Amino acid sequence: MREFIQGLPKVELHLHIEGTLEPELMFELAQRNQVKIPFSSPEQVRSAYQFSNLQSFLDIYYQGANVLLYQQDFFDLTWHYLLQCHRENVRHCEIFFDPQTHTQRGIAFETVINGIIQALEKGRQELGITSHLILCFLRHLDEHSALQTLDQALAYRELIIGVGLDSSEQGNPPQKFARVFAKAERLGFKRVAHAGEEGPAQNIRTAIESLHVNRVDHGVRCVEDSALVAQLIESQMPLTVCPLSNIKLKVFSNMREHNIVELLDKGMCVTINSDDPAYFGGYMNQNFHAIADVFALTHQQLAKFSINAINASFIHEDDKQKLR
Ligand code: ADE
Ligand code: ZN
Repeated sequence: MREFIQGLPKVELHLHIEGTLEPELMFELAQRNQVKIPFSSPEQVRSAYQFSNLQSFLDIYYQGANVLLYQQDFFDLTWHYLLQCHRENVRHCEIFFDPQTHTQRGIAFETVINGIIQALEKGRQELGITSHLILCFLRHLDEHSALQTLDQALAYRELIIGVGLDSSEQGNPPQKFARVFAKAERLGFKRVAHAGEEGPAQNIRTAIESLHVNRVDHGVRCVEDSALVAQLIESQMPLTVCPLSNIKLKVFSNMREHNIVELLDKGMCVTINSDDPAYFGGYMNQNFHAIADVFALTHQQLAKFSINAINASFIHEDDKQKLR
């Protein structure tokens, strides 16, 4: 099973680049940039990663990002992730980045995106990994800040394939960003949104109906609405599910309770992803193992997750064939 998962050509569609900041790199950057962090060793950082819900994680995650100051830092962060993709046979990735996490602390938008883009280009050339970049708006901030961020993105229009919505779902429903997403749609951006992770199934409906999303990130709470489940199967709307994340953030109490295989068997377009692997204990292969270990999956079921991810990706239709 391990060999099969390793050999499977994989596509990752739900990955926050800030969530790949391993404690070792956090320490290295803290030293290099003379940023104080409230930990004395990478081990101590790891032992602090005990979360009770999404917000308890986000508080630590935004704090971790404080060590990222220069273009080289964003390059190093992205390059580390791509090397891991290479080790795990991840052939294509669609990466989220949260510009507001950085612009709010005075880091220029171009510093962030240039570092990421240069690493993605090197990944294409040296590792053969293709990629797309998705700009996520932080939903705990207001519409005005999201619109400002969208305006900043226009200078990089060709480098950003789509927009997304992340951060605290409770209290920040998708409709808060309906006008931002309408503008992004007019500008030709693809659209995704975190919905139905901690929030209700209604957020999935609203993301589809008001934000016109091409994919739903997480979406596991769809099962609370059987008409929605039927609609998701019929439309083959992709869900980018993140098993280890869901356990770490207590969306499910343990992996046996996870519904991803139930959704797959119902015929939904579900995919496996790592979300914030440095915080949740594993990259793509470990997310596959976590599910395969508990649900005794066949090779065919495992391969279906990869086929779904290829179909759900923003790869040009002509190029999808090369990955299948
Ligand atoms: N930002 C990073 N990871 C996230 C998650 N799982 N949910 C919402 N926002 C996030
Ligand atoms: Zn996420």
